[in-house]
Order: sequence, then structure tokens, then C-alpha cells
Amino acid sequence: MNEATQKRLKVALRTNEERFFTEFEDEIKLFRDRLELDKDGEIFDVEVDVDDQNCFVKVVVKCVLLDAKSYEIVRKLEQFRDNIAKIAQIKRIAKSAVYKFLSDALNVDEPYGSLTGIRPTKLWHEFETKGKDADREMEALFVSPAKRALIKEIVDAQKPVYQSGAKEVDLFVNIPICTSRCAYCSFISAELSRVQKQVPRYASLLREEIEDAARLIRESGYLLRCIYVGGGTPTSLPDEQFEEVMDALSKLPAREFTVEAGRPDTITLPKLKIMDKTGVTRISVNPQTLNQNTLDAIGRRHTVDEFFAKYELARKFDFDVNVDLIAMLPGETPEMFAASVDGVIALDPENVTVHTLALKKGSALKLGGYDNTSESDAAAMVDYAYGAIKGAGYVPYYMYRQKYMSGNLENVGYCKPGKQCVYNVDIMEETTTIIACGAGGISKFVDREAGRVERYADPKGLDVYLARGEEVWRRRREFFDDCERRRGVRADK
Ligand SMILES: C[S@@+](CC[C@H](N)C(=O)[O-])C[C@H]1O[C@@H](n2cnc3c(N)ncnc32)[C@H](O)[C@@H]1O
Ligand code: SF4
Repeated sequence: MNEATQKRLKVALRTNEERFFTEFEDEIKLFRDRLELDKDGEIFDVEVDVDDQNCFVKVVVKCVLLDAKSYEIVRKLEQFRDNIAKIAQIKRIAKSAVYKFLSDALNVDEPYGSLTGIRPTKLWHEFETKGKDADREMEALFVSPAKRALIKEIVDAQKPVYQSGAKEVDLFVNIPICTSRCAYCSFISAELSRVQKQVPRYASLLREEIEDAARLIRESGYLLRCIYVGGGTPTSLPDEQFEEVMDALSKLPAREFTVEAGRPDTITLPKLKIMDKTGVTRISVNPQTLNQNTLDAIGRRHTVDEFFAKYELARKFDFDVNVDLIAMLPGETPEMFAASVDGVIALDPENVTVHTLALKKGSALKLGGYDNTSESDAAAMVDYAYGAIKGAGYVPYYMYRQKYMSGNLENVGYCKPGKQCVYNVDIMEETTTIIACGAGGISKFVDREAGRVERYADPKGLDVYLARGEEVWRRRREFFDDCERRRGVRADK
């Protein structure tokens, strides 16, 4: 429902449970068509009381503007492993109370109910691991039957690749550079023309960092599972620097090696040859849409014909190919989007990823005032994609959600049977340790048994990376040693 025409009500959040303030705000933002957070708005009160002795939690939600009555739930806490798990449970209950109050008061059901996190499938896996009925748990969080079925389908499709060994790691290499900026994108990525002078130094420092990561892998007895070169658009690097980075990766044996080439205008025969020589197994060639007018409007700086030409060129090599689409791009109707889906399916790529537009604050689209959040159009597009892509023999195998997505929907990756991108599953389900190189790269140490993920970040911007990246990544070894020590101590207990 597009409620842009309706007046938005202003509410000011107040709660006795400050720790969950942001999460409660996120629940309110799910209803952003109807509500606006404003410190001068009507008080929106959330009171959380925990009875530690009897293990009960009571949540009361009130807002005079929306409903004279309040909403109250009382739930028994289940057994928890530690205080972190207890807080997580209380938070989930409190969030679902806020959602239920708003959903009833505004008479709106959101597809994912009270879930606001990036990883619905990770939560489903968690419920299953604890021996719970994941479907019922998600129902209690007000996730719709259709989305519960989708999550389950994805979790099932992940099973063949889900389990990694404790010593298996992935290597992520970030190249946050693009030939130009797309109007919808808010990824941290610099335009090549602005950083041209820094690129040779970036490539050589990155090469050193990759070599250091390779030593860490070898000396720690890790087994390399996947390599993923992303960004940005890695193929926007000039050939010489692209080859330098790829060469550093060529000696590392991995079961899967993806380069998120992405932008058709950066995919050339020399780049494809370099990737082929390096042992790359999977690349992306992304149109986002097959409508030329939309491409022009979003500043992709390539044509539909160029996408087809580069796709065909890539097909002369032995890569698995992924194709990204975005639903709800400006000016597109469900029919236009359906034509893009059909056009992509006709090419028969191994993977298709269907994103739903997230109108992020820093993007040119948002800054330019674009605000089409029609929930019915978004749902029609995503539903069409699901039916058509599945009908063509693919299975949905990973998903993630972002803030400000049209219709509060999701991004779904589809694959031909057996063609799951293992790295995408690893990163979304947080099942495997990732060593990340390059500006903005975030390494993650995953201790699955303890349910713990620890992070180590490289400096974000290109400038900072060039100035002190080396100093930061040289200390990564200590971070990994500490994480291993903690894992060892826990395992010995
Ligand atoms: C990190 S980008 C890299 C891909 C590559 N640079 C390209 O543009 O082809 C990965 C994908 O995220 C999707 N994406 C980026 N920003 C988005 C947004 N605001 N909403 C929805 N999808 C988005 C696009 O489909 C894009 O291909
Ligand atoms: S969508 Fe891709 S090419 Fe466009 S700005 Fe974002 S990362 Fe760069």
C-alpha cells in the first residue's frame, strides 16, 4: 500500500529499557509510511519489566495518538546459556510487542513481522540448532506464512554447503572503487577518476596484505574454502593493477573463487583472461534492469546491449555467472521488472540475485527526493521473480535484508541446483571465519560452538588505508591468536 499521500504521525520513543532504544526505533521505522520519529511527537512508550525470580518478562506499549488502549504481553523466558542469550530473548519479546501494537493500531501486516535484522535465515538455523520448531518461533514473531516458507526453503537449499570445518576460512578482498556511482547505491566506494593516482599504491599494499593473510592461513593451519573479491567493482581497476591483485591470489587453492565484476562497462577481454588465468570460478555480470531508460536514470553508464554483449563474452570462459537485478528502480512498473526477470532467465546463468531497492540515506536517489515505496508493487515484483525463476529450475539459496527496503522485503539469491555460491552462504549465516583484506574489509572470527562472532576492521577509506592500513593489518595476527586462545580455553573446559 502506498501511503505516501496519508499524513504521517509524529511519535517520540520513550522507554525504560535504553539498551533496546535503537531496536524499538527500527520497529517504528517498519511503519515509516505512516509514522515519523520526532522528539516533539506524541510519546510512544515501551515499558519492559523482567521478573528474574520467576523468569517472566512483561512488556507494555502505549501511544495515545494511535490507540487509547495499551498493548501488553507477558512471556516466560526460556532457559538461557548466559546473560547475552537472556538479553537477546528479552529484546526479541519486547520488539515483537512493539510490532504487534503498531500492526494492530495501523492495521498493517509486514511480511517479516517484527524481524528487523539482516539475517532471517540465521535465526531460523539458530532455532533449529536449539531443537525448536523454527516455524512456530517465527510465527510468534509475526513473520508471514509465505516468508516462513521462503526462509525454510532457503535453509534447506543451504544444507549441502552450510557446514564448514572449524579450521576452514574464507578470504575476502575489498576493492571499493567504481567507474561511476549508481544513484541507488550507498556502498562505500570511490569513483575511479577521483582516486586514479592512489590506485597503484592501493594495489601494491593490497597485494602485501593478501600475502600476509596467506601466511596467516598457512601458519595457523587454516584451510582456505572460498575467495571472494568484491567492492565496489573490482574490475574497474586498470588491467595492470587488477592483474597485480589477482596474481597475489592465484597461488591460493580454494574450492570457489568469485570476482564481483558486476558493471558490464568494466568487463573486457583482458580482464576475463586475467580472471581465467587466476583460477576464478564465478563472476557477476549485472544489468540491474533490462530497461535502457532506467539504466540512464540510475547513472549506470552502460547500455542494455552492452550487458548482453559482455554476458556473451564472459560465457566464452568457464565461469559460473551471477546476474543481479533490483526491483523497484525508479519509473519501473511490475510489468517492466517482469520483462527484466524473463530476459535474464532466458540467458540461463547459474545464479540470479534479486534485490529489492533499499532507499539508503546517502544515495543520490534518496537525496534527490525519490520515495516510491509502493508495497504492493514491491511485493508483485518480488513474487513474480520468485515464481518465474523457480519455474525455470532455480532454487532460492540465500537471503538478506537491509533497512529502508521497499515493502520491507528482502534480497534473494537463486541458483541452479548444486550451484550455490558457498561464500554467500558463509557470510550471511556467519558460519565460517573470514579474513578480509583491503580498505573497509572486516575480518570475522567465528566460534560456532560458542555462537560467537568477533570482528576486526581494516581502515575504511582509501586514504586512511594507504596511510595506516599496513599497521592495522599487521596486528590482525594477534587478533586471530587471541580468538583461537579463547576458543581453546572454552573447548578445554
Ligand atoms: C556491492 S554491489 C556490487 C556490484 C557491482 N559493483 C555492480 O554494480 O554491478 C552488489 C549489488 O547490490 C545491489 N545493490 C546495491 N545497492 C542497492 C540498493 N540500494 N538497493 C538494492 N540493491 C542494491 C546491486 O544489485 C548490486 O549489483
Ligand atoms: S552498484 Fe556497484 S557500480 Fe554502482 S556504485 Fe554501487 S558498487 Fe559501484
